Amino acid sequence: MSKRQLSLNFFIYPDGHHEAAWRHKASTTDRILDVTYYQELAQRAEAHKFGAVFFADAPALADNVRYAQWFRLEPITLLAAIASATKRIGLIATASTTYSEPYNLARLFASLDHISGGRAGWNIVTTSSPQAAQNFGLPEHPPHHERYERAREYLDVITRLWDSWEDDALVNDPASGIFADTAKIHSIDHIGKHFRVRGPLNVSRPPQGRPVYVQAGSSEDGRAFAARFAEAIFTAHQTLASAQQFYADIKRQARAFDRNPDQIKILPGISPFIASTQLEADRLPGGVQCADPARILADSAAPDDRPGPHRLRP
Ligand SMILES: Cc1cc2nc3c(=O)[nH]c(=O)nc-3n(C[C@H](O)[C@H](O)[C@H](O)COP(=O)(O)O)c2cc1C
Repeated sequence: MSKRQLSLNFFIYPDGHHEAAWRHKASTTDRILDVTYYQELAQRAEAHKFGAVFFADAPALADNVRYAQWFRLEPITLLAAIASATKRIGLIATASTTYSEPYNLARLFASLDHISGGRAGWNIVTTSSPQAAQNFGLPEHPPHHERYERAREYLDVITRLWDSWEDDALVNDPASGIFADTAKIHSIDHIGKHFRVRGPLNVSRPPQGRPVYVQAGSSEDGRAFAARFAEAIFTAHQTLASAQQFYADIKRQARAFDRNPDQIKILPGISPFIASTQLEADRLPGGVQCADPARILADSAAPDDRPGPHRLRP
């Protein structure tokens, strides 16, 4: 029997997973736009055997930016810079199928995969923030079911764009003067409900063929999408029973899509509380025995002028 291996993915929220974390005295809030900060974190994760770093994203400014540092660099751009400072670690960027076009995104991920030598991963989201609609000329945020319907067509189109160059289509031979074998570069001629894309892509086939597909759906549509397309699935559960139920459901649906369920990794989220003993860890701000779990600011020197309790991120 092959040895089982733990897969660790480092979910970097630049400003912490609690919305007030950026105010803690140990926080490095001044480095939120400093690329070397993320390069150092990724180097540490790589040195400690993490398989990937991951950045979340939404194409709209959060409404509570007055109080929360909910603001970040665009993940594909940031991961291209991280690629140049690391060697092995996977680089997972979030991008939305509702608020982007497959051709643009295919180029971006193909470029990231080339730049990183085959380390790109895509966290495929349909975006839940309704504010995004107004940034993209839509009268309203499309309903959940429609977003997943578009996502399915999007996946079909973008996958065919990455496949539009065969593996050996790039000849690059100065002696013969042949740069590319056009018999191995194909248009995709897609005409569908949401997209019309002729192709081919204007970047050669990426080292991995395409980025690793990551997803985090939890609704019926979301789970079916993940079971059909994803190679890694992010999820977050409060109880072991619901995590086990989720795991079993994804693996069952993957079999129904004729996929090998063993090739899908399910990555449940954890937020570690690290101290010398269990009791000390439980008493840390946000820990189970913290006198006031809502106040991560206990050690903070900054005045708290906020009304109401601080929220954990959704
Ligand atoms: C660990 C994790 C990371 C996520 N990251 C993002 C993200 O960056 N952007 C986003 O729009 N949604 C993100 N989501 C939300 C999921 O994509 C998904 O929409 C959500 O779990 C609800 O499931 P549903 O889409 O099936 O309704 C994330 C979810 C999880 C569990």
